[in-house]
Amino acid sequence: VLGFDTLEDYMAQDKYMGAIVGRYANRIGGAKFTLNGVEYRLAANEGPNHLHGGNVGFDKRVWTVEGLGEHYVTLSLVSPDGEEGYPGTLKTEVTYMLRGGDLVIDYSHSSDKDTICNVTNHSYFNLSGHDSGSVEDQHILLYADYYTPVGPGSIPTGEIAPVEGTPMDLREDIDICRVGTPIGARIGDGFEQLVLAGGYDHNWVLNPTHGGLRSPNSLAAHAWSPRTGIRMTVSSNMPGVQFYTGNYLGGCPRGKGGAVYAERCGFCLETQFFPDSPNQPSFPSCVLRAGEDYNSTTVYRFGILDDAGQL
Ligand code: BGC
Repeated sequence: VLGFDTLEDYMAQDKYMGAIVGRYANRIGGAKFTLNGVEYRLAANEGPNHLHGGNVGFDKRVWTVEGLGEHYVTLSLVSPDGEEGYPGTLKTEVTYMLRGGDLVIDYSHSSDKDTICNVTNHSYFNLSGHDSGSVEDQHILLYADYYTPVGPGSIPTGEIAPVEGTPMDLREDIDICRVGTPIGARIGDGFEQLVLAGGYDHNWVLNPTHGGLRSPNSLAAHAWSPRTGIRMTVSSNMPGVQFYTGNYLGGCPRGKGGAVYAERCGFCLETQFFPDSPNQPSFPSCVLRAGEDYNSTTVYRFGILDDAGQL
């Protein structure tokens, strides 16, 4: 992953590097939504829209360490009623756990009022090494037949569009040894969605795997560096994933060991509810009801193929 050497460096950057992002990861159009007949106005921190939880999102908060062991850390955060415009006191716990070659991230949320919630991880990966330059030669496979196209300000149009026949089709899965499509293969094709976002920066609708539902073992993505042989799979029970190719990484302060992180030097795979879900009735609901718990799990698995071709 891309990153920094000091806490001060993390606090000085605005790329959400490695952060837990919330209360609502990605964008909410017009920085407002209506729940139970009440309109809530959120902080507009990207033009008229709300991005990644507002001016002081979860990425800028100091979390409490609730538990710490050799292989895990549990962090917690209480977001007060009205923070950045959101209703309800939201309690969030995130556990990072190492299990073999897996990094398991468990999220759990509860609120004292009905609210909306969409929390993710915003790590930038580069499977050739954090300081190895562009990721465009790395391969990506997304387990998704559909994506959500965006309009101005990268707000979804509400359409759920097939990837078939477009550069958004990243399903190529011919053979485990050469899985996926090089990220750069069609990124410069002039396809309107890619021009609008300066590259890949969209939500893919993850294919259901278990009778219409997803489980924490349901694959979302598979990435691979032909240079190092390092692979990463992402599994999650969340309905979507934002595949973002670091199009706006330019201007990033120097990273670990003085590394320069330019555009497309890392990619993010942010498991999530779809962007602007609170305003899109046809998208899966991100509403968290008072007193209910919402849990989700995302697993990032790292490895190289063994002699039997298994990860
Ligand atoms: C978004 C990008 C945004 C970036 C900020 C990503 O999750 O999809 O549009 O610029 O976060 O670092």
